[in-house]
Amino acid sequence: MELGPGNWLAVARPTSALSIVTTVDVEGRTNAAPFATVVRVNQEPLQLAFTCGEGSDTCANVQATGQFTLNLVSHSEDLLRRVVTTAKPWPSEIDEATYAGLTPLPAIRIRPPRLFECYAHLELETEWLKSWSGRCMVVGRVVAASARRDCLGPDNELVWKQARPVHYWGGAGGDTFTPLGAPMPMAAD
Ligand SMILES: Cc1cc2nc3c(=O)[nH]c(=O)nc-3n(C[C@H](O)[C@H](O)[C@H](O)COP(=O)(O)O)c2cc1C
Repeated sequence: MELGPGNWLAVARPTSALSIVTTVDVEGRTNAAPFATVVRVNQEPLQLAFTCGEGSDTCANVQATGQFTLNLVSHSEDLLRRVVTTAKPWPSEIDEATYAGLTPLPAIRIRPPRLFECYAHLELETEWLKSWSGRCMVVGRVVAASARRDCLGPDNELVWKQARPVHYWGGAGGDTFTPLGAPMPMAAD
């Protein structure tokens, strides 16, 4: 279900959560790859950043099209197994999402598809890219957001115990995944 701009920020909470980034190449073929380090860098307008390897399909597609969709992943063993499948070094012409049994849905404003199995989706257009040391940093601006109905409350707010966003600890962390659990209210000043 499409979310109005007043509900976009909630999809970018936690400030970094495991996503599958979908992109398309110039011929419109879909690519999917997981990224744990996708960080909110501005609230208004809502902007997020990530880095990718310069030789990756994600990098080539974002450089070519200026668009990407962040598909937010829930802490579910079945879904996380599929996420890991999308990360294997498949040939460029393979659509990892379909191969991993994930269901593409057309995005609302851009070409890279949303993935049905993900709890929410942020559609971004590139603000800027910078290459250095074999990495490419991508900063994007959100142009549409949506979430699965079963993860939304009465005011279209995300219900965290349904969404169950994920932190990925990486290879040095034993390739483990932790649910990002219930927030504890506490004054920060
Ligand atoms: C759970 C998970 C999280 C990952 N997070 C990142 C990340 O934050 N940054 C990164 O550069 N690669 C990350 N990777 C590795 C990329 O997904 C991987 O290099 C992928 O093959 C790139 O695919 P592409 O060539 O289709 O873009 C992650 C892999 C997994 C399994």
